[in-house]
Amino acid sequence: MKFFIDTANLDQIKEAQELGVLDGVTTNPSLMAKEGITGRDNILKHYVAICDLVDGDVSAEVNSTDLEGMIEEGEELAALHDQIVVKIPMIKDGIKALKYFSDKGIRTNCTLVFSVGQALLAAKAGATYVSPFIGRLDDISTDGLGLISDIRLVYDNYAFETQILAASVRHTMHVIDCAKLGADVMTGPLSAIEGLLKHPLTDSGLEKFLADYNKGNQ
Ligand code: E4P
Repeated sequence: MKFFIDTANLDQIKEAQELGVLDGVTTNPSLMAKEGITGRDNILKHYVAICDLVDGDVSAEVNSTDLEGMIEEGEELAALHDQIVVKIPMIKDGIKALKYFSDKGIRTNCTLVFSVGQALLAAKAGATYVSPFIGRLDDISTDGLGLISDIRLVYDNYAFETQILAASVRHTMHVIDCAKLGADVMTGPLSAIEGLLKHPLTDSGLEKFLADYNKGNQ
């Protein structure tokens, strides 16, 4: 399972990269705005800065909603760095854009996916990644993890190569559940990744080992 971090914050990306388990980064316009990154030139420079920090894929989202605009933006983003994956929204022209980029060998991430039908369309259009937003489904009292499981079933039925990128992951249990369900990738905050480290028996066990060592080695 690949671990992506879902942020545009360079310090957090660096921290995750230094942990040695990071496979990539996802961003979106809201995450860029949160970091105060505005204006086309600054946004493009920020994507390059992220690519320079990590070894893996970096999803960069288009802001156009028409095919021509998505193609123009996506080609500009893809030309920035070979780690860039063009993030395209799940709308009608988005499907056409996914197919266009797929035919050109440009990797894509289909975002804002909330149903199996949408995931099926994205795979048929040749998306590299499909991003079901599990946290946002949970927020409206629907079954985010169930969607991961259903997409896994459908993709396996037809051997689609599109990778399931579980997005809108909010906490560590989401990461574990997505791994159990066979998501190819998860993207979430640094806290969700670091939460995997924690167990009270690890802490108390280590405390005892160190205390016993210190008794005999002073
Ligand atoms: C995915 O690529 C999105 O950036 C992200 O996971 C959305 O998460 P949120 O629902 O926490 O905003």
